[in-house]
Amino acid sequence: MRILSGLQPTGRLHLGNYFGMMQPALQLQHEGDAYYFIADYHSLTVIHNAAELRDNVYNLAVDFLACGLDPNKCVFFRQSDVPEHTELSWILSCVTPMPMLENCHSYKDKTARGFTPNTGLFTYPVLMAADILIYDSDIVPVGKDQKQHLEVTRDIAAKMNATFGEGTLKIPAPRIREETAVVLGTDGQKMSKSYGNTISLFEEEKAFLKKIKGLKTDATPVEDPKPVEGSMILALYRLVTDDATYNEMVADFQKGGTGYGDYKKQLFAKLWDFFAEARERRATILADKNYVEDVLQAGAQKARAVAQQTVQRVRDAVGLAARK
Ligand code: ADP
Ligand code: TRP
Repeated sequence: MRILSGLQPTGRLHLGNYFGMMQPALQLQHEGDAYYFIADYHSLTVIHNAAELRDNVYNLAVDFLACGLDPNKCVFFRQSDVPEHTELSWILSCVTPMPMLENCHSYKDKTARGFTPNTGLFTYPVLMAADILIYDSDIVPVGKDQKQHLEVTRDIAAKMNATFGEGTLKIPAPRIREETAVVLGTDGQKMSKSYGNTISLFEEEKAFLKKIKGLKTDATPVEDPKPVEGSMILALYRLVTDDATYNEMVADFQKGGTGYGDYKKQLFAKLWDFFAEARERRATILADKNYVEDVLQAGAQKARAVAQQTVQRVRDAVGLAARK
């Protein structure tokens, strides 16, 4: 079973990324042949500053490794080290109907918020389809917001197969964990870098606590029972506690008598503990100057060998000359 997923280096890793995509991806690295990459080509749709891009790529790689990605168990690489992704993307774009891309939420949302879209932003899902299809991926662990991109990927693969012959590309399946499909940010919207409501995993202790204290709550007085439904404190607490510990807080909410400030402190303590090991690993990784680049280079070599084979198969199927 081949598993594949990618993350854009557009900022620091946040709790939404971790619980929506990274945690499932880390679990899956023990269940199959996993390929994980840093989608730097994709982030060029929004980042136009070389130093910032390099910095983001490095930090995301460090964070990924700190969270427990094991480069001996999976192939971990940088998308742009495998330029075949862009070649396949071009071929796929030639069978992709424009209306399919015009319909994508990611594009529609950005234009609705007043961005003048560049062409890359528009064709973003085709490059993502290439990322996935080039490794004959079976399973793609992502957050719910990527579901539509997975549908586009499946449609493009089916169209390629119908046009150029069955077996040209393998049709993948998404893997979306429903219970953590959408992690909410400090303001109650979906946690996202674009909304400025994120809590980063490796935030300094003080800043981390400040963000937890800033979580949006309602105006229920201290002595009254608190609504369980829709509580962001409980939703985050759920992600880092076992059933018994979580249910205790729920019962306490229902009883009343405790203020949100106390619950926020409890939540902070659990979250801080939850990432303690990752923080330690992160410090070790940062201390070794060459480690990250060595891992990415080794990963790129393995990934590229697979990608080249797929591209050759597709070139044959569509009638492009064989690679010398
Ligand atoms: P952002 O919205 O902050 O820019 P990305 O689009 O880079 O995040 O998302 C990277 C991965 O993390 C994707 O698989 C996405 O589905 C997942 N993800 C992002 N935000 C959330 C969230 N709030 N809840 C669950 N998963 C998320
Ligand atoms: N679009 C994804 C995101 O914003 C990142 C991504 C690029 C990706 N290529 C991918 C995810 C391939 C899964 C598979 O999160």
